[in-house]
Amino acid sequence: MAIPDRTDVHAAWLPPEAFRAVGSRRVLVLGEGLLVDTVREEATRACARHGGGVRHRPPGGNGTADEPFDLVLALSTAEAPAVVTAVRDEFRRTSGQDAIGDEGFVLAHRDGVTVVLADEPAGLLYGFFHVVRLGETAFDAARPAEHHRPAMRRRMLNHWDNVDVHPVMGQVERGYAGGSIFWKDGALREDLTRVRAYGRLLAACGVNALSVNNVNVHRTEAHLLTDRLGDVAAIADELRPYGIRVHLSVNFASPVILGGLPTADPLDERVRQWWARATERVYQTIPDFGGYVVKADSEGQPGPFAYGRDHADGANMLADALAPYGGVVHWRAFVYNHRQDWRDRSTDRARAAYDHFAPLDGRFRDNAIVQVKYGPMDFQVREPVSPVIAAMPATRLAVEFQVTQEYTGQQRHVCYLAPMWSQVLGFRPFGADGPSVADIATDADTGGAAERAVRTAADGGAHAGGGLVAVSNVGDDRFWTGHPLAQANLYAFGRLAWDPRLDPVAVLDEWIDLTFVPSATADPERLRRTLHAMMDESWLTYERYTAPLGVGFMVRPGHHYGPDVDGYEYTPWGTYHFADRDGVGVDRTRATGTGFTGQYPKPWSDVYESLAECPDELLLFFHHVPYGHVLRNGSTVIQHIYDTHFEGVEQVAEIRRLWEKLDRELVSPEVHARVSELLDEQLRCAEEWRDQINTYFFRKSGVPDARGRRIY
Ligand code: GCU
Repeated sequence: MAIPDRTDVHAAWLPPEAFRAVGSRRVLVLGEGLLVDTVREEATRACARHGGGVRHRPPGGNGTADEPFDLVLALSTAEAPAVVTAVRDEFRRTSGQDAIGDEGFVLAHRDGVTVVLADEPAGLLYGFFHVVRLGETAFDAARPAEHHRPAMRRRMLNHWDNVDVHPVMGQVERGYAGGSIFWKDGALREDLTRVRAYGRLLAACGVNALSVNNVNVHRTEAHLLTDRLGDVAAIADELRPYGIRVHLSVNFASPVILGGLPTADPLDERVRQWWARATERVYQTIPDFGGYVVKADSEGQPGPFAYGRDHADGANMLADALAPYGGVVHWRAFVYNHRQDWRDRSTDRARAAYDHFAPLDGRFRDNAIVQVKYGPMDFQVREPVSPVIAAMPATRLAVEFQVTQEYTGQQRHVCYLAPMWSQVLGFRPFGADGPSVADIATDADTGGAAERAVRTAADGGAHAGGGLVAVSNVGDDRFWTGHPLAQANLYAFGRLAWDPRLDPVAVLDEWIDLTFVPSATADPERLRRTLHAMMDESWLTYERYTAPLGVGFMVRPGHHYGPDVDGYEYTPWGTYHFADRDGVGVDRTRATGTGFTGQYPKPWSDVYESLAECPDELLLFFHHVPYGHVLRNGSTVIQHIYDTHFEGVEQVAEIRRLWEKLDRELVSPEVHARVSELLDEQLRCAEEWRDQINTYFFRKSGVPDARGRRIY
């Protein structure tokens, strides 16, 4: 296996310098398997560059027992030097368990040797990258032993990449980083070394699955399931050495489109047979294929409703086809009426996913994972957590984030999203004593569906979840993500999927340490301080200068960049703010509104219902209030709108100033130039948001800014 060496693209969080600590050591790799080979090759390359050396011993090999090593990476089944055996025995004794666990590893320092021990090759790979992340500190004598296991079994990225360039959406739907790294103008790219380099980056932050095509499966893309399966297999070959399994978005109507059947009815025997055969061929071609991703009955995609069937019928049919091979179907809960009449105030898009899916709880197969967007609407900068996440205790749920910044600045604005994700993952839908969203998505090996069916979601988190998924932000851009600082979002997604309890600021710190290698004369602390000042709060800054108080959707229709307050107000999309001369916001209460608050369990059903208790940042999501309404923070709604919009722009001006002041030795000229250019655009766009939002609400309300600032 060749480690990709693409000097024409940015190294992201794996620059050669990040391997200095490992690469200057004497390393021993013990065990065999594809991913053990990857570890060995990674270590070999690092050592070739930094002066260390690597020995590898497959099982039964000998000749290393007496040699001194600084780092030993060993499978627990391998015959190992005494120091490894001692670490293994100590782990067993102190943990009281035998298994390190799927993908897990133990890291310990003993008798001058750093030891990584894993039951499986994947654990060794993650352990290796953990040592890279720790750098010199991995070799500290004082390190206590650590046991790492991923919280989520599946940590997955969805690529919204099209094979054909879509006339409206382009090569990558909602992609802000150039073209696709997989597809170009209707074909698989000839050179896939970049795909392998991507797999390497993903393994280093913990991602282990990805889907290779858009959830909107158009005609050409539908063929990836059958006659163009070879393309998918070629991608899988590139990603396999980094422990990443490939999934495919499929079109629900495939039996009609590809198979020539008159129907795609999930209960029709011919349809079931067609899927069974298609799936069999997939596994003959790609034995470790992950499974299907499906967007059905959503925004024009076909689905089971056409046949009078429900989403459990649809998902279970695919789950049955995948089950013999251990595959899973990710069935998206993003189902709503996108042809709503704006005059009809009783239909509430926020209710839709719950209304469709909650009644189906308990009906989904064990290998059918219902994939739920974190909020009830659509990846807005601020939404309450989706009530679906608390409503399906007998279903495996995956939570879906959007790393691609569709509604959060489109990778032209600095917007570090990990604090938002961390808040969502830590949210406790049943109150302080119940499980968190992360607990619900966590795969806790609690047995089969029958056992889970008798559990409730409030059982303290002993729940078999479906993992974490996010829409990727990567394209063929030299920096992978367009904005160089948007790489941090991708890195942080992987890290939080591995361990949702990680502090987003600490994760950012890891990313900074790995990514930026200042010259010996420069002051790395200065760079660290600057990046934290620019990024830690950038999500809140973005929120301040865009749509206020959780109201959402004041973006330009279609491409979703920049402000357009009424852009969606009279459209069929169900995304309204109802601003008039007296007030703004959506009444979603049970008392007088759409009743959406009733989809939450207590305490949140009461908290959100109550005007007095509803958190300020979500006020307009749940309530329609007069402009003079006093927030919990003491300000009126209208004054809060003015204040946050002025403040948000000032913060953008400040981060731009910090970046300009940064010592040029600290980042490469290309990174500096790209970020500078984008900060100019961010400031321009933030001013546009400020002026449009403030002017709009001033004209509607007639209330002047208490501080007399300029409003147009
Ligand atoms: C958003 C986005 C679409 C996407 C959809 C989805 O609505 O704008 O481009 O297809 O989400 O998640 O399916």
